Amino acid sequence: MSAGRAVAGGPGQWPVQDVVGVGFGPANLALAVAVAEQNAHGGGRGLRSVFVERQQEFGWHRGMLLPGATMQVSFLKDLATMRDPGSRFTFLRYLHDKGRLADFINQKSFFPTRVEFHDYLRWCAAMVEDQVRYGRQVYALRPAADGDGPASVLEVHTRPADGEASGDEVLRTRNVVLGTGLVPRFPENVTPGPRVWHSSELLPRAAALKDRPARRFVVVGAGQSGAEAAEFLHREFPDAEVCAVFSRYGYSPADDSPFANRIFDPAAVDDFYTAPDEVKESLLGYHANTNYSVVDGELIEQLYRTVYQEKVAGTERLRILNATALTAVEEHPQGVRVALRPLIDGDPRTLDCDAVVLATGYRPSDPRTLLGPLAEHCLTDGQGRLRIGRDHRIATTGAVRAGIYLQGAATEHTHGITSSLLSTLAVRAGEICDALLLDRAQRTDAGAEAADLAAETGTVPLPTP
Ligand code: FDA
Repeated sequence: MSAGRAVAGGPGQWPVQDVVGVGFGPANLALAVAVAEQNAHGGGRGLRSVFVERQQEFGWHRGMLLPGATMQVSFLKDLATMRDPGSRFTFLRYLHDKGRLADFINQKSFFPTRVEFHDYLRWCAAMVEDQVRYGRQVYALRPAADGDGPASVLEVHTRPADGEASGDEVLRTRNVVLGTGLVPRFPENVTPGPRVWHSSELLPRAAALKDRPARRFVVVGAGQSGAEAAEFLHREFPDAEVCAVFSRYGYSPADDSPFANRIFDPAAVDDFYTAPDEVKESLLGYHANTNYSVVDGELIEQLYRTVYQEKVAGTERLRILNATALTAVEEHPQGVRVALRPLIDGDPRTLDCDAVVLATGYRPSDPRTLLGPLAEHCLTDGQGRLRIGRDHRIATTGAVRAGIYLQGAATEHTHGITSSLLSTLAVRAGEICDALLLDRAQRTDAGAEAADLAAETGTVPLPTP
């Protein structure tokens, strides 16, 4: 063992875990909740689990917790209700615990604010805190050197997320669940800088500009984040002009009608999973407008009203530069110059502004970057995409016995459009939890299990970061 690197799970140390979760956003938080409930009520030895999160505390898209912004999903699609409405982790239990149940009901809405839902998620996270290592970044997964057979134990290499060189730590586990979420996407040829930010950083970056007079913002993108950013900046900076730039002709509404909404049901995951490839592609295409590059209808109405009322008053502050492409962004100490190409007349123009917000979406984080040498043992389909079982386990060659599970947008090609969303988290977490229990029951290496149990006798509690 190299200096400064502790191995958790070595002889006489922490036991090998049943599961290590990489990332602790809502997806792996839902799994921690399912594991906690299983351990409380399932009988027998509970699943041993650790979740590793690089943030110093629980946080869900904090940079976009805009005042008043509401959830795009019913509160009933919380971390537990769809799996077990009687769970102590439901949104209703949270409301009851906070003394707001009656007040919430009186609102007559299924859609809490994002700020409130974030508080609910934090409330859940606090109840499973003993399973989480905050402030640590997972940087590699490797098979543990356990002899000549298939790798049945994996090493999860972690280091402090603040970049501290010492303090590397290795967890050993029979299964990992990757839940590393989404990564901001930037337009080609645009480099982020002090005045050019992705929408995921909107709140802290805008707060830093508050004490300086801002004259103009440019917001790029016609999706929900773009519309929210335009509305937020227009409201928070009453002296500034906000130019919304996008290539569409107008903001388009998200289809949240009941039949289309069934694409987010747990049963739709079964349908999608078993559908032929060409049907999967068609379904993703037909229903992209439930989620991608679309905006909540009420927000569209609100923005339109603002534009119209400003026209009436002759003080246009919210300007919609539609059918327009962003071609370049040049940042200088006093501000930013953006180059635009209107798609209809093609006549290029420039705009000077104080800051540019790139609401240009996200891409799934690529699990292969973490998998390292394990990636070559992961099976792929004809298009080079990971093959993933219905139970969310990545198919591997016989050289890997340990389970590698994947949650989130990187499973959209197998599990459908709900993969990157909250809608089926409760049910999905239950499915993964069941798979982990089944895996443990099927383990034939009883010797290793006995060694784990012996090590458990001297278990050292996980240190808090
Ligand atoms: P998420 O990205 O939330 O979490 C991943 C976690 O992994 C992060 O905490 C990250 O720090 C951590 N991590 C990553 N790499 C790591 C590493 N190597 N080591 C340690 N930790 C690591 N969906 C919906 O259904 N309804 C809604 O209302 C919304 N609203 C919404 C608003 C905004 C502004 C955004 C950007 C997105 C939404 N979404 C949404 C979609 C969103 O993807 C979803 O709500 C969840 O965030 C998905 O949860 P995950 O845990 O998969 O990813």
